[in-house]
Amino acid sequence: MKNILVLFSSVDGQTLKICNYIKDLLADEGFNIQVASIDSHHKINTNYDFILIGASIRYGGYRHSLYKFIQNNLYELEMVKTGFFSVSAIARKIGRDIPETDHYFEKFKRKSDWTPCIAGIFAGSISYPKYNFFDRFMIQAIMYLTNGPTDSSKVFEFTDWSKVRLFATQISYILKQ
Ligand SMILES: Cc1cc2nc3c(=O)[nH]c(=O)nc-3n(C[C@H](O)[C@H](O)[C@H](O)COP(=O)(O)O)c2cc1C
Repeated sequence: MKNILVLFSSVDGQTLKICNYIKDLLADEGFNIQVASIDSHHKINTNYDFILIGASIRYGGYRHSLYKFIQNNLYELEMVKTGFFSVSAIARKIGRDIPETDHYFEKFKRKSDWTPCIAGIFAGSISYPKYNFFDRFMIQAIMYLTNGPTDSSKVFEFTDWSKVRLFATQISYILKQ
């Protein structure tokens, strides 16, 4: 049985939700999958057949711990098949929803020196009731400027689950080759 490690870098849980969705799909295909926080992993071993990392954007970038993890594990990540997916609010927009046009992912590749075998760009969610005053105000302003929803009493999920399913299918295909 092939082993997959899925690591997430998430603050509000949407990236974890996507990881668990991918996990369920790949488990149905007969793969053995472990999902864990990137913050709980310092060094990975190369016993895995595939390593997937999912990370969300906050104020224009990924968290420092993601870059630190990749820096510490660059050799291991080059030794196995890998995937990366990005979660952000702007990815709900056509034109910002593929790896080739996502500025965050482009910057990430340059900064991390790591090019995963497969990449996905997914829209996340906006959970206004969860945010503190400052974050709620900032997100409302960003949403207003990008024609997004501004009702601060609501949760808005933009994730296109069919796109996530397709991504999981691509991983399965890579692993079966
Ligand atoms: C404080 C804050 C800052 C954010 N900054 C950005 C941003 O700069 N660009 C963007 O596209 N999305 C931004 N988002 C949207 C998040 O990427 C989105 O909510 C995502 O689903 C978060 O994933 P997580 O729940 O796994 O942390 C921000 C969200 C919050 C709460």
